[in-house]
Amino acid sequence: MKNLLSFLFFFILIPLFSRKSIADDSLRKRQSINDTQVIISASQKFELGFFNEPKASNLKYLGIWYKGIPDVVVWVANRDNPIVNSSASLTFSEDGNLVLINQTGSHLWSSNSTRSIRNPVGQLLDTGNLVLRDSNSKSKYYEWQSFDYPSDTLLPGMKLGWDSRTGLNRKLTSWTSPDNPSLGEFSFSINTNGLPQFLVSKGNKTMYRGWPWFDHDFGQGYGNGFDYNLVFNTSMEISFSYRYSENSRTRIVMDSSGSIYRYVWSDVEEEWHKEFTFDGAGCNDYDLCGNFGICSSVVTASCDCLYGFKPISTQNFSNGCIRKDPEICKAGDGFKVMSNVKWPDSTGDLVKMKLDIQDCKAECLKNCSCLAYGTVEIPKIGNVCVNWFHKLIDVRYVREVGSGDDLYVRVAASELEWDDEKRSVAVVVVVPIVSVIIFLALVSGCCLIRRRASGNDLVVIELPIQENNLEMPITVLEAATENFSISNKIGEGGFGLVYKGKLPSGQEIAVKKLAERSGQGLQEFKNEVIFISQLQHRNLVKLLGFCIHEEDILLIYEYLPNKSLDCFLFDDQRRSILNWSMRIDIIIGITRGLLYLHQDSRLRIIHRDLKAANILLDSGMKPKISDFGMARIFGEDQTETKTKRVVGTYGYMPPEYVIDGYFSVKSDVFSFGVVVLEIISGKKNKGFLHPEHQLNLLGHAWKLWNEGRALELIDVMLEDQFDKYEALRYINIGLLCVQRRPEERPSMSTVFSMLENEKMQLRLPQRPGFYEERFIVSDINSSSGDQQTSSSNNNVTVTLLHGR
Ligand SMILES: *[C@@H]1O[C@H](CO)[C@@H](O)[C@H](O)[C@H]1NC(C)=O
Ligand SMILES: *[C@@H]1O[C@H](CO)[C@@H](O)[C@H](O)[C@H]1NC(C)=O
Ligand SMILES: *[C@@H]1O[C@H](CO)[C@@H](O)[C@H](O)[C@H]1NC(C)=O
Ligand SMILES: *[C@@H]1O[C@H](CO)[C@@H](O)[C@H](O)[C@H]1NC(C)=O
Ligand SMILES: *[C@@H]1O[C@H](CO)[C@@H](O)[C@H](O)[C@H]1NC(C)=O
Ligand SMILES: *[C@@H]1O[C@H](CO)[C@@H](O)[C@H](O)[C@H]1NC(C)=O
Ligand SMILES: *[C@@H]1O[C@H](CO)[C@@H](O)[C@H](O)[C@H]1NC(C)=O
Ligand SMILES: *[C@@H]1O[C@H](CO)[C@@H](O)[C@H](O)[C@H]1NC(C)=O
Ligand SMILES: *[C@@H]1O[C@H](CO)[C@@H](O)[C@H](O)[C@H]1NC(C)=O
Ligand SMILES: *[C@@H]1O[C@H](CO)[C@@H](O)[C@H](O)[C@H]1NC(C)=O
Ligand SMILES: *[C@@H]1O[C@H](CO)[C@@H](O)[C@H](O)[C@H]1NC(C)=O
Ligand SMILES: *[C@@H]1O[C@H](CO)[C@@H](O)[C@H](O)[C@H]1NC(C)=O
Repeated sequence: MKNLLSFLFFFILIPLFSRKSIADDSLRKRQSINDTQVIISASQKFELGFFNEPKASNLKYLGIWYKGIPDVVVWVANRDNPIVNSSASLTFSEDGNLVLINQTGSHLWSSNSTRSIRNPVGQLLDTGNLVLRDSNSKSKYYEWQSFDYPSDTLLPGMKLGWDSRTGLNRKLTSWTSPDNPSLGEFSFSINTNGLPQFLVSKGNKTMYRGWPWFDHDFGQGYGNGFDYNLVFNTSMEISFSYRYSENSRTRIVMDSSGSIYRYVWSDVEEEWHKEFTFDGAGCNDYDLCGNFGICSSVVTASCDCLYGFKPISTQNFSNGCIRKDPEICKAGDGFKVMSNVKWPDSTGDLVKMKLDIQDCKAECLKNCSCLAYGTVEIPKIGNVCVNWFHKLIDVRYVREVGSGDDLYVRVAASELEWDDEKRSVAVVVVVPIVSVIIFLALVSGCCLIRRRASGNDLVVIELPIQENNLEMPITVLEAATENFSISNKIGEGGFGLVYKGKLPSGQEIAVKKLAERSGQGLQEFKNEVIFISQLQHRNLVKLLGFCIHEEDILLIYEYLPNKSLDCFLFDDQRRSILNWSMRIDIIIGITRGLLYLHQDSRLRIIHRDLKAANILLDSGMKPKISDFGMARIFGEDQTETKTKRVVGTYGYMPPEYVIDGYFSVKSDVFSFGVVVLEIISGKKNKGFLHPEHQLNLLGHAWKLWNEGRALELIDVMLEDQFDKYEALRYINIGLLCVQRRPEERPSMSTVFSMLENEKMQLRLPQRPGFYEERFIVSDINSSSGDQQTSSSNNNVTVTLLHGR
């Protein structure tokens, strides 16, 4: 209803009142538009016309914006040449080009097709592209198109990069300031020399570089229809473009401060969401570590040198590194592999197609100036070999373990002596002497021990480059939490105690002391923590680091002031704070977070303990899911599988999990359904009591649904706030999620579509799983108690945690 109204408002009423459109999406020979008129694309998606910037100023520009969202200008014609104190119009020049003229007839901007066009037509397409073509010509060739001259916005279908046919290298250029469209100093381009990658530059200086071959930039697939296309044909075209579902709006923008964002328009919330940012901070800073340096980072960035190099100045790593042993290109030198790194910038370096790793190495060996080599597998092209000659700059460890590339760095013969076999022998030999150092090395997660060639024969063991400095010393945490004092305790979750703390920087943190040690090894555990820390989404609580101290494992999270959803939902007073629209926002936020875990992150993460107590609320009452990835941290397999140890919370677990130990993404969907019904009803599933029957909340909801009384489920506090149809949809979706058979439950992406698209037909729900409270109690033979373990006859151990 709300949507329909806004639709009417935006698409029908506004144009009537404000600007007049010429009847068409096109401007033909001898036609023109003046500054009160607009051209609207055929399906009413974009509008071409004049706008003032700053808003109330006398500076006028010709631009394209989303129809109905005039503030979002996606293209500007006369960026550096505004019309001042004059009326203006758009028409054709003698040679058929589009021209912008002011009152006195001066040309302030013109399309610059080199051919003259006899019967020109300027047409605004539904993609937002303004094209100029010859109406007599049958070919679909455009004499000129605005997509070839981007402003600060890349729309779906637009190409960034080089095309031999036009000779253009298209890039985004920032506005000078948010209210000044003139050419700013920042640009966003892809390099056409070396491996293609995104470059963010300030003037002619590179500030930030994307991943070679865009591997990680959009690889996290911010899902939901975003589909990108890369062309890498060095004789024809090198470009990046993307598509998006036709009826949705998305755009990539370089703002005037040099940041790149991708926005997605939500029809439900009627606002733009930032889905993706290109971030130049920390290790992403292009020359933070200088030539031959390497950056590692999670909480803070730190620099080191590539293998075989040492810092020029330990005070300031921006100066880079130099070879420890300059004897290069002598007999016996070779390569050392640095795994899991982001490759250095290859602009201006040698790129050869279809070369395997051996040939690539041979190529590099041919030339003494070759500093490093590596190969990467590019879809549809195959192995591509890169040889670096000039410098090795902007290398970093990849935060997601196992997803970087291998870089083979040329080192002197003296650096090669210490190969892997010798290393393991050496450790044994050296242990008695320097056991303390080795212990330190192991504790800090390092497995590499190398020898520094020094004048005498003394063996020096160096602490190698730390993979990631996610690890925090216990002293810092003790200081932050006042030695884990009772007064700092803020909670007691399923996995242990939670303390509030404050780092010296002032950042507030939540420290979780895990109750049990996992069965896996230390390194494995660390890998999992590092992996989990990569999962970043605005509806997930950020994991900032960890600490291992004696028997304790501590996880450090961002701190959220407003506690968890259950503190509001199941508290008679605070429940009233949550009005209908807030509850809907919370449900949508949880859906996004869970969808990211299930689908958009590189590996599928099953939460396994989703519940109201695990939904934290930020200062704006936006939900963030916490405790995800605990199953991984505890070393459990993450595919659909049977597990011996069931971890979950009574009231939120689906039957197949409790009874058989089977879990899958659909187990989370069940828990999600329970949370949805709890949010709508303001009642807890576990411990739900009703005077008339023995059913739990799910059974109660199901009963009301079948009796046609579903609206009675809704929290009495919400009285008149909701739309009946919308409320019924939410109940319907909640019930679909808690259906007994996992295969009948929708996936989170279907849930998301059902929420976003109110016209989508919903199935009727089938019987929920566990709708009688009693059933679960007798079936798994558990009694009440805070944390209990019981065995069922098929040897599955059940650990039940009671919800807070
Ligand atoms: C713009 O053109 C329309 C239609 O030709 C006309 O009615 C209107 O007066 C013009 N406005 C200006 C400011 O010239
Ligand atoms: C435009 O008009 C304003 C006020 O009418 C005046 O102050 C300004 O100098 C004019 N600018 C130009 C470039 O004519
Ligand atoms: C039209 O533009 C020209 C060139 O910028 C300028 O000299 C002239 O004063 C403008 N006319 C009006 C009416 O502003
Ligand atoms: C057209 O104009 C743009 C600047 O607006 C310029 O970069 C480009 O080289 C021009 N192309 C031709 C063919 O003149
Ligand atoms: C970059 O621009 C600055 C100032 O405009 C200039 O001094 C410098 O030589 C340029 N560098 C390159 C590599 O073009
Ligand atoms: C590049 O494009 C040209 C023209 O379409 C084609 O002939 C050539 O085979 C392409 N090269 C590669 C490596 O795909
Ligand atoms: C480090 O060196 C770079 C380049 O030599 C210089 O621009 C920067 O200011 C230095 N930083 C510090 C902290 O000294
Ligand atoms: C080695 O590579 C450099 C840089 O590309 C080049 O200038 C030089 O001619 C090459 N030398 C040989 C022997 O190929
Ligand atoms: C924490 O304990 C250490 C020694 O156990 C003590 O020196 C320190 O003052 C304590 N800090 C606080 C904030 O209580
Ligand atoms: C719900 O509460 C929020 C925050 O208190 C408020 O901004 C919003 O207007 C409320 N919505 C309704 C429908 O009352
Ligand atoms: C949530 O936290 C913010 C910031 O601490 C606070 O201003 C706000 O009142 C809190 N909201 C509720 C509902 O507690
Ligand atoms: C349960 O465990 C017992 C003893 O460990 C074993 O003999 C039996 O086969 C197991 N049952 C099942 C169903 O795995």
